[in-house]
Amino acid sequence: MGLLFKLILCFTVLTCASSVLAQCPVGWFGSKCQYMCHCESDAHCDSYGQCPTKCIAGWFGQGCQYEDLTTIDGALISTSAVSSSTSWLTDQDVTTCNEDPSLNSITVQWDRPYPFTWLRLQAKTSTAIGQFEFLFTTNGNKSYNCINQLLAIVDTTTVDYRCDINDTVTRLIITGSSLYSVCSLYISGGRNVALKQTAQQSGTYVFANISYSASLAVDGDANPYFHNNTCSHTTDILQESVPPVSWTLTLDTPRVINRIKIYNRADCCSYRLSNFSLETMDINNHTVWSYVGPVNASLVYELNTMQQEPVKTIRIIATKIEVNPILPMVTLCEVFLFGDCEPGTWGLGCTSPCPTECRDFCQQESGKCFKCLGYVDPPRCTTACLPNTWGINCQSNCSSSCQNTSCDKLTGVCDKGCNGYSNPPACTVECASGKWGHNCSYECNSSCIRQTCERVTGLCQSTSENTATTASLATTVVPDPCNCPSLGPGIGIGIAIGVVSIVLVDVAIYFIFIKRRQPPATANDPVDKTQGTQLQQYDSLKENTQYKPHYETVDPIDIDKTSVTQGSTSMNSSPYENEIAPYESYSPKHKK
Ligand SMILES: *[C@@H]1O[C@H](CO)[C@@H](O)[C@H](O)[C@H]1NC(C)=O
Ligand SMILES: *[C@@H]1O[C@H](CO)[C@@H](O)[C@H](O)[C@H]1NC(C)=O
Ligand SMILES: *[C@@H]1O[C@H](CO)[C@@H](O)[C@H](O)[C@H]1NC(C)=O
Ligand SMILES: *[C@@H]1O[C@H](CO)[C@@H](O)[C@H](O)[C@H]1NC(C)=O
Ligand SMILES: *[C@@H]1O[C@H](CO)[C@@H](O)[C@H](O)[C@H]1NC(C)=O
Ligand SMILES: *[C@@H]1O[C@H](CO)[C@@H](O)[C@H](O)[C@H]1NC(C)=O
Ligand SMILES: *[C@@H]1O[C@H](CO)[C@@H](O)[C@H](O)[C@H]1NC(C)=O
Ligand SMILES: *[C@@H]1O[C@H](CO)[C@@H](O)[C@H](O)[C@H]1NC(C)=O
Ligand SMILES: *[C@@H]1O[C@H](CO)[C@@H](O)[C@H](O)[C@H]1NC(C)=O
Ligand SMILES: *[C@@H]1O[C@H](CO)[C@@H](O)[C@H](O)[C@H]1NC(C)=O
Ligand SMILES: *[C@@H]1O[C@H](CO)[C@@H](O)[C@H](O)[C@H]1NC(C)=O
Repeated sequence: MGLLFKLILCFTVLTCASSVLAQCPVGWFGSKCQYMCHCESDAHCDSYGQCPTKCIAGWFGQGCQYEDLTTIDGALISTSAVSSSTSWLTDQDVTTCNEDPSLNSITVQWDRPYPFTWLRLQAKTSTAIGQFEFLFTTNGNKSYNCINQLLAIVDTTTVDYRCDINDTVTRLIITGSSLYSVCSLYISGGRNVALKQTAQQSGTYVFANISYSASLAVDGDANPYFHNNTCSHTTDILQESVPPVSWTLTLDTPRVINRIKIYNRADCCSYRLSNFSLETMDINNHTVWSYVGPVNASLVYELNTMQQEPVKTIRIIATKIEVNPILPMVTLCEVFLFGDCEPGTWGLGCTSPCPTECRDFCQQESGKCFKCLGYVDPPRCTTACLPNTWGINCQSNCSSSCQNTSCDKLTGVCDKGCNGYSNPPACTVECASGKWGHNCSYECNSSCIRQTCERVTGLCQSTSENTATTASLATTVVPDPCNCPSLGPGIGIGIAIGVVSIVLVDVAIYFIFIKRRQPPATANDPVDKTQGTQLQQYDSLKENTQYKPHYETVDPIDIDKTSVTQGSTSMNSSPYENEIAPYESYSPKHKK
């Protein structure tokens, strides 16, 4: 935490005014230096929060804002692989990937229940989005799959999955055939939305000209030693305080909050933060969630709960009866509220509205629309794909190589076998000569010439392909379609059947022609050669998304404001003051 004080100082007003983006202390970014990045080796992040190398272990995402429940204390990761090492999964390195072809499950087990909202998977080349399955065990010991599964494609190799789980979870098992290509796993524990928000308390304690203001509980410094001036403290002067003694945080915009972490002071008097009452309230001051502290105080409170309602205000009220001094007190060395933007908004400040295509709900980090896999109606995902379609929002057609053009709605794999191909479910190998139909299980009619036939329809093949490929298909002399029914008594019917047969044969010839002109696509990638459907998925994945740079998403308005803030902020020689200044200008009092 000491590095918070290592500052980059602006030496001249000119330098600062000409700088488009804020010069923040090391570890901070944003137009008002209001966000804390978590870069490896305490490195300086850029103005978008991007680290020069990677995040501190335990953090991920843009600006390393999200705490990772995969590596949090008390999380235990195991896999079905022979090697017990899982470092390839949690090292934040997309070049270290699973090497065990038999890997078929990854288990994360926690020593306490955590809220689950979304997770991020990164794969070697392309993410086979349809081939993961998730099984959650809740605090109540129930098992759930990924309910109302949504996914957002972050980039070519990164996909986020969101599931609706009402209860906190103690275990997650990931299975599915795509595991073999997995490189990294992150499970979102939310981001700290309390940081530098507007804090107030019922009265501020002042000692030796130092005031222990409410904002010290959301300054990002959890140092529990009160005399380092990193903790808030309510006043001990009776007259100045209007009971109840309380500390209140008002968020700029409502956020969904699932994890609350409170650091008590540790040098003395920690007992004061016991029996307290904590309340989160929505925008109408209705209670969303409440909690009463234990009789015996803790140094750190970790409160995990699964909440859906956005919170605007949180209040901590002291109730511990004091004998001397008379007043109860609230002292908070840090309050972390882990959560995310309320539905319909996204971005670091949750100020950007979701795109019109998904106005009610989008991925809160990037603003991308969530999509349904196997369902046609994002983001609700309640109407399954129509027959013959599959994939993200059912945007892909099943392959005509599939029997009846029927395929799995999630993976696109032929689910009723092949038609004209011999290797279900991939259906990439054409029928051998003399075979046709469903999985190539039919013999061509022996009366076909050379006993060969069209492998999809079973119709006899043309003897003269040169004729078939001429432009005058309609007037081509049609070879005997051996499979056609024998002529019935009615000549009219016979003619009709004849015409239909001619058309069918022409169609067949046309398909042969097309087939020869466009041989079936074969994968160049040796990995994909055995995975026909894999390739297919990747292609559709590319089609359906426009990849943009990962850090495109910082609100441009935010950046514009930066220069204004910087230009108008007077310089201060004290590094400490300099750090505080951006925050001060951020509070309503200073906006006026
Ligand atoms: C107070 O903060 C300083 C600077 O960060 C640190 O060196 C010192 O150890 C802290 N004191 C205590 C008691 O934590
Ligand atoms: C949860 O279920 C497992 C097996 O079904 C059982 O062994 C375990 O004791 C249960 N735990 C609780 C807290 O009920
Ligand atoms: C979650 O809660 C909602 C509302 O209480 C309910 O409709 C839904 O069925 C629950 N889902 C699960 C998986 O328990
Ligand atoms: C508090 O500040 C005032 C004025 O700045 C000064 O006169 C006084 O000595 C200070 N007191 C302490 C205890 O630092
Ligand atoms: C909520 O309470 C605060 C203070 O208690 C008050 O200022 C605010 O107007 C209230 N909001 C609503 C919507 O009642
Ligand atoms: C609280 O602490 C006291 C003294 O350490 C102990 O006797 C008591 O059992 C504790 N109560 C609880 C509920 O843990
Ligand atoms: C705990 O808080 C309640 C009110 O929430 C109060 O009535 C009670 O006296 C408090 N107990 C102690 C030991 O402070
Ligand atoms: C899927 O098929 C329909 C008609 O069958 C066609 O309009 C649509 O363009 C096809 N979509 C793709 C992605 O090929
Ligand atoms: C293919 O479709 C036909 C007609 O719609 C049906 O009779 C047949 O059972 C289907 N085949 C399979 C394997 O589902
Ligand atoms: C074709 O293959 C699929 C998948 O292996 C199988 O389910 C189906 O029964 C087979 N159909 C025939 C007619 O062989
Ligand atoms: C083969 O074709 C002949 C003549 O078109 C027909 O009579 C016979 O039933 C067909 N055999 C099979 C197995 O389809």
